[in-house]
Amino acid sequence: MIRSVVRGFGAALPERVVTNRDMEKIVETSDEWIVQRTGIRQRYIAGEGETTASLGEQAARAALDNAGLTAADIDLIICATSTPDNTFPATAVNIQNRLGMHHGFAFDMQAVCSGFVYAVTTADSYIRGGLAKRVLIIGAETFSRILDWTDRTTCVLFGDGAGALILEAAEGEGTSQDRGVLTASLRSDGAHKDKLYVDGGPSSTGTVGQLRMEGREVFKYAVGMITDVIQAAFDTTGTTADDLDWLVPHQANRRIIEGSAKKLGIAPEKVVITVDLHGNTSAASIPLAIAAAAGDGRIKKGDLVMLEAMGGGFTWGAVLLRW
Ligand code: ACO
Repeated sequence: MIRSVVRGFGAALPERVVTNRDMEKIVETSDEWIVQRTGIRQRYIAGEGETTASLGEQAARAALDNAGLTAADIDLIICATSTPDNTFPATAVNIQNRLGMHHGFAFDMQAVCSGFVYAVTTADSYIRGGLAKRVLIIGAETFSRILDWTDRTTCVLFGDGAGALILEAAEGEGTSQDRGVLTASLRSDGAHKDKLYVDGGPSSTGTVGQLRMEGREVFKYAVGMITDVIQAAFDTTGTTADDLDWLVPHQANRRIIEGSAKKLGIAPEKVVITVDLHGNTSAASIPLAIAAAAGDGRIKKGDLVMLEAMGGGFTWGAVLLRW
């Protein structure tokens, strides 16, 4: 059977680092409060000229280099983002053009913080369905542009960045020993829309809007939703927490990540954490974490890797793959 196997990865961050001490000058907060509640120590914030598409392009170029490929080798680009450069055309098409790619097709995926998990699942479906052989998947965000910088309950949590992953078709045996995407478990439930949303949009207010969140409410649901989809991925493939080499979670909050891993019996040393360095970069957080852990040699060929995320909507999901 056809499997979607990882061929390359890359990442890009804005130039400017904003530490918790810097945040103390913007809103009434403290390094201690932010670290204790979230694990975040710093985040990167896009400057003038840095946009979702420019960061996405940089991450895409890094992934192409890592794979030893050029844009000519790609059939499809999917960009997971909630902070597009324009309402349309899609940021993926913008990046396609920046890469000098004028063949194939490109589109955006909007599932907020779960966007990258949704995009990997979509890419895998296109590859297994025979519609694309190589897919460039990008998670890119500039959440700093939709934050209310006077609201300390949200502005300390988020950051900007981009990451990319290239999947390509390869023959597999159809077992959980195959390399590539083994299964995915996706969920959404719009009943939770008021707990985490942006209070504007083209069709409602005609404005971009700002992020609003009931943090405590989100927290209440997060661990249960995340552990459900991870367990579903284990069950479908007949694997267990003991078989797993790496959990690469969406990086929203250290307490949510550690609580989910503990509930599933996943050892803390198997969990990739970058929330301290990047803050919550929404759809970019998983590919940024992948690039960190694969880049320094932690994630190796043949490793069993679980990706998971939960975000606005709510949307949530997990992907199990063998590197
Ligand atoms: N600095 C200092 N004090 C603050 C800050 C801040 N930045 N923000 C809030 N506080 C205060 C509150 O005003 C409150 O004070 P009060 O008790 O006098 O009213 C106190 O801290 C406690 O506030 P809570 O909201 O109860 O704090 P909590 O322990 O729940 O932590 C947090 C807040 C970190 C947001 C937590 O609820 C959380 O992590 N929720 C999940 C959010 C999340 O992960 N969202 C993203 C997932 S989806 C996505 O990625 C888009």
